[in-house]
Amino acid sequence: MLQAAFVLCLVILPWSAVPEIRVQECESAGDQPAAEDVPWQAMVQFKKIGICNGAILNTNYILTAPDCVRDKVPSDLGVRVGYRRRYDGDFAGVCQVIIHPQSSKTNQSSNLALLKLCEPLDPSETIKEIGIIDKQPKNGAEAFISGYGSYNNSVYYCDPLTLRKKAVQLYDLKACAAERRLSAPTISVTDLNFCAEKKERLCSFHKGAPLVVDGKLAGILSFGDCSTEPDVFVNVLYHKKWLQANTKEI
Ligand SMILES: *[C@@H]1O[C@H](CO)[C@@H](O)[C@H](O)[C@H]1NC(C)=O
Ligand SMILES: *[C@@H]1O[C@H](CO)[C@@H](O)[C@H](O)[C@H]1NC(C)=O
Repeated sequence: MLQAAFVLCLVILPWSAVPEIRVQECESAGDQPAAEDVPWQAMVQFKKIGICNGAILNTNYILTAPDCVRDKVPSDLGVRVGYRRRYDGDFAGVCQVIIHPQSSKTNQSSNLALLKLCEPLDPSETIKEIGIIDKQPKNGAEAFISGYGSYNNSVYYCDPLTLRKKAVQLYDLKACAAERRLSAPTISVTDLNFCAEKKERLCSFHKGAPLVVDGKLAGILSFGDCSTEPDVFVNVLYHKKWLQANTKEI
């Protein structure tokens, strides 16, 4: 239908460059879900602008990608939950950032970051935690991603406005690793990742977007681009212990 015209882009924004470019609404791919369809969805904000996606692990912690939060002070970060459009929903401040010690700009195995909220979220129909998968889904399994994208063609920068949800299929990891070795030689895809197939040329969602299989969190978007190449997620099944250890409240 409209997909061909849609360009949904993942960009790592050097924020100092933002004021030079014009802001417009993002054009994005996928359906527009209701907030209660993806109640675990979080938008990570930096100085009140949406920069990344995340998932609600529990009322105190949001899981996202390290690239979104590295070298930023917690007081500049925030999280928006229970929304469908910008300015909907609840805002929560971030008091602590915990980056996975093995996170790396190249090796995609452990690219996870936890945001500890200053105040616990108030759960509702549109704000709920999501559990982590208990077993490895098969290649080709049906999944979906949700979140915001952004678009940068050096003239426009778009501030993500509308939440999107997109059905995807898990893609063979070895094939993904081989394709990504050619198209993105600086990153390495390992057994601790998931890849999701793109059937057409599309820009990826912002990093941190949750990948969900059978109602449970399977992955967090770690690397994507504007291409037909698969998106790369961190497989959270392999990080359950780290996640549990770091989100436990004492
Ligand atoms: C990538 O990092 C993981 C730990 O996060 C490690 O187990 C693995 O050996 C690394 N792989 C490569 C190719 O460096
Ligand atoms: C936008 O993309 C251009 C390349 O098309 C790049 O040179 C520029 O740094 C990017 N700007 C931002 C803010 O990401």
